[in-house]
Amino acid sequence: MATAMVGDPWTTRTMPRSFSHSFLLLAGLCCLLPGSQTRDYQKTGASDSDKNPEHTQCQNFASTITNISLSLLQKASNWPKQTNFVFSPMSIVTAFAMLSLGAKGSTHKEILNGLKFDLMMMPEMEVHKCFQHLVHTFLQPNYQVHMTLGSSLFINKGLKVENKFKKMAMELYNSEVISINFRDSQTAKMQINKHVMKRSYGHVLKIIKDLPIDTVLALVTHISFNGVQIGEFEPEHVDTMEFQLDSGKVVIVPIVKRQGTFYLLKDKNLSSWVLMQHYAGNIIAFFILPELGKMEELIQNLSHKHLNSIHRRISTRISNLHFPKLTVSTTYDLKTVMNTLGITQIFSSKADLSKVTKKVPVKLSKAVHKAMLGIEDKPSEASEFPDLYKALLPDGPTIEFNRSFLVIIKDKTFNLPFLVGKIEDPKAQ
Ligand SMILES: *[C@@H]1O[C@H](CO)[C@@H](O)[C@H](O)[C@H]1NC(C)=O
Ligand SMILES: *[C@@H]1O[C@H](CO)[C@@H](O)[C@H](O)[C@H]1NC(C)=O
Ligand SMILES: *[C@@H]1O[C@H](CO)[C@@H](O)[C@H](O)[C@H]1NC(C)=O
Ligand SMILES: *[C@@H]1O[C@H](CO)[C@@H](O)[C@H](O)[C@H]1NC(C)=O
Repeated sequence: MATAMVGDPWTTRTMPRSFSHSFLLLAGLCCLLPGSQTRDYQKTGASDSDKNPEHTQCQNFASTITNISLSLLQKASNWPKQTNFVFSPMSIVTAFAMLSLGAKGSTHKEILNGLKFDLMMMPEMEVHKCFQHLVHTFLQPNYQVHMTLGSSLFINKGLKVENKFKKMAMELYNSEVISINFRDSQTAKMQINKHVMKRSYGHVLKIIKDLPIDTVLALVTHISFNGVQIGEFEPEHVDTMEFQLDSGKVVIVPIVKRQGTFYLLKDKNLSSWVLMQHYAGNIIAFFILPELGKMEELIQNLSHKHLNSIHRRISTRISNLHFPKLTVSTTYDLKTVMNTLGITQIFSSKADLSKVTKKVPVKLSKAVHKAMLGIEDKPSEASEFPDLYKALLPDGPTIEFNRSFLVIIKDKTFNLPFLVGKIEDPKAQ
């Protein structure tokens, strides 16, 4: 693990303590009791770091990324069908902004247009500076408790990488440009997979399944999200519930059960329950549970404005929560994903990546994104929530996440989505 930290700030984690029981997002499903990290919550979403002037400018820019995220979520149903999916619009957008540094002419223009940066409003270098600011914020240890995040570019051995590109990719985006021998595609695949495994501390495995024979340039971006550990749980006690699939079929799934005070909102306009959880590093997660059969409508209705309004309207209430345990990981071919944003040339023989390498024309032969999210439970050594205390709580509604729901994990500092996803069947791989 030590070696992965050297020169690898995108993924440096200083908190390996959660390594063996990593995917504990919902283990944090508790509450406003002493010891929980919801204490410092402020409804405005403001934090100390907002005083930094760079935040203000980059916050506006963050709403562009949120818009892209929601439009990708709306289009995700056209991508190859996956029962459950998660992906990180932020990590994808960041990686292509980095690639734009190496592109020229219409290839360059197409990327910036596709990512919807209004260069009249903000000069290109300012856009990169904002990404630099974001990337460096998310490298801070308090974010790294929950996430591993990374992006690397692999180039065929023998092709000389322009120094300026290499330097800017590292300085602004903390992205490495690594030379490997793509002619031996088996070994190249193994090298890439090993690199990502190391950078994600073992969370993201086998990111590349196959490599086209003529690969000269490949991009990988990955994210994993791991929750915090606050338990009030009896290790032997495993609960289950019935979960209704969109097809109408019912499956039995293991669950996390929590009783306590939660941020909850019955959002009538979305026909949904919304649960909000806080994590270290200014991270918040929304779990949005629509009425049966209303998922597509929900996805079409979600807007940046509405998400912000949830944040303003949500408040605490006592309730019983039943939540499925699950691990979701999804791999996306970014060619398909970027096509939905109108970014195609970089993947074609018309690509101009001459600021990456000059001698021979190259295109992006392979671009892969893999995201993983785990929701599990961690038995705690000592109960934080004694039965006596439980008995004193008035009864609240029981909210069962027992049908399709959405997950949106955001950063509160920039109001930026790290991860969006849809869970349709907790048991599906
Ligand atoms: C985001 O989208 C909304 C409507 O879809 C639009 O009003 C708003 O200006 C967009 N924001 C940015 C920064 O593009
Ligand atoms: C899901 O939960 C709701 C509300 O608690 C309940 O009415 C419904 O019967 C549950 N569905 C299944 C399949 O158990
Ligand atoms: C909900 O919908 C009503 C009617 O369309 C609208 O007036 C109201 O502003 C909406 N509320 C939110 C929070 O979007
Ligand atoms: C979606 O928006 C329409 C129009 O405002 C509304 O009638 C419908 O109830 C909404 N549905 C969901 C699930 O958000």
